[in-house]
Amino acid sequence: MSEAVQAMLQTNAEAARETERDADPGFLWDFWYPAVRSTEITGRKLATAMLLEVPLVLGRTSDARAFALRDSCPHRGMPLSYGRLDGQAVECCYHGWRFDACSGRCVEIPSLTSQDKLKVERIFAGHYPCAERDGYVWVYMNEPGTRLPETIPAAPALPVFSGKYKITHLACELPSHIDHGIIGLMDPAHGPFVHQSWFWRSRHSIHEKEKQFEPIPNGFRMSKHSPSTNSAPYQLLKKMTGEPVTTTIDFVLPNQRLEEIHSGKLWFSSRAAVTPVRRDLCRIDFVAAWNVVFLPVPIFRMFGKTFLRQDQETMIRQAEGLKHNPQLMLIDDADRPAKWYFALKANLLESRRTGTPMVHPMAGPVTLRWRS
Ligand code: FES
Ligand SMILES: [Fe+2]
Repeated sequence: MSEAVQAMLQTNAEAARETERDADPGFLWDFWYPAVRSTEITGRKLATAMLLEVPLVLGRTSDARAFALRDSCPHRGMPLSYGRLDGQAVECCYHGWRFDACSGRCVEIPSLTSQDKLKVERIFAGHYPCAERDGYVWVYMNEPGTRLPETIPAAPALPVFSGKYKITHLACELPSHIDHGIIGLMDPAHGPFVHQSWFWRSRHSIHEKEKQFEPIPNGFRMSKHSPSTNSAPYQLLKKMTGEPVTTTIDFVLPNQRLEEIHSGKLWFSSRAAVTPVRRDLCRIDFVAAWNVVFLPVPIFRMFGKTFLRQDQETMIRQAEGLKHNPQLMLIDDADRPAKWYFALKANLLESRRTGTPMVHPMAGPVTLRWRS
């Protein structure tokens, strides 16, 4: 290849990267997102995470409060995670500026002399509200350059239905844009092809399904129903209690799929949250809780990991195809949930832009039919 052609290709590639960086990454700001597991911030340890392309440093103060700061010193951009935490403040490793961990307010600039007039307390490191739920540190991501609203909603919590229960967490990364991560998560038609397992189902068990959906605030619900009877775990549950098994599945913006299964006094509750790390990377945080005695945590984790790995491998392969910007299509009824997701997202952004109430894309209950 001639040098001129090579140079041209290089310039084109750079220009493409530039456009990509400037394009709107399609994130939903002003929501809570799980950043790290609570167990990652112990003692004076600083942990890092990236949410919606914002680098964060997280830790815990000496009075056990979790905090999240932008991992960038307002002085000259040094990641604060290279610094140290004294229990109250984070000290930057470069020039020793110290910031109150919870408010981000600068409390000391060691280089200042008594002559200096600089108002130290007017300097802030970016900071984000934090809350701990279900073993995660959640961070409220308000859009860069905007002020935090007066009141922010409570961080989401996994519904549980008895005092005693088992709980476990799994996570996996997907090399995908958040939208593909989410529509992959709630896609009803990939099951028989992606999740073939001896303990779950084979592709031959494919059959016609009819499910009722209803609108809920910021999302939609697959109404309470009896789950597919060709899955062994459901059959077992029914045998145990002698009562019908019911399940309800919700999707709620920005990123959560919640599932509740009940049979008599036994229950199982799970949440998968897909969080954008960068525009080309997201992470599934999966938490499940249950009071079903015959389901030990290690067994459940084995099955759960298999499921997640199957989804992850599929998304890795899909990412290969999506690199070339193909035209995509969403079909009825199997892709209707994906269409609702895009409509919910668009309508939410529109209502924020105009300050008018959000229009829900579903006028009322809807029955969808597909084979899976
Ligand atoms: S860069 Fe942090 S104190 Fe200078
Ligand atoms: Fe899946």
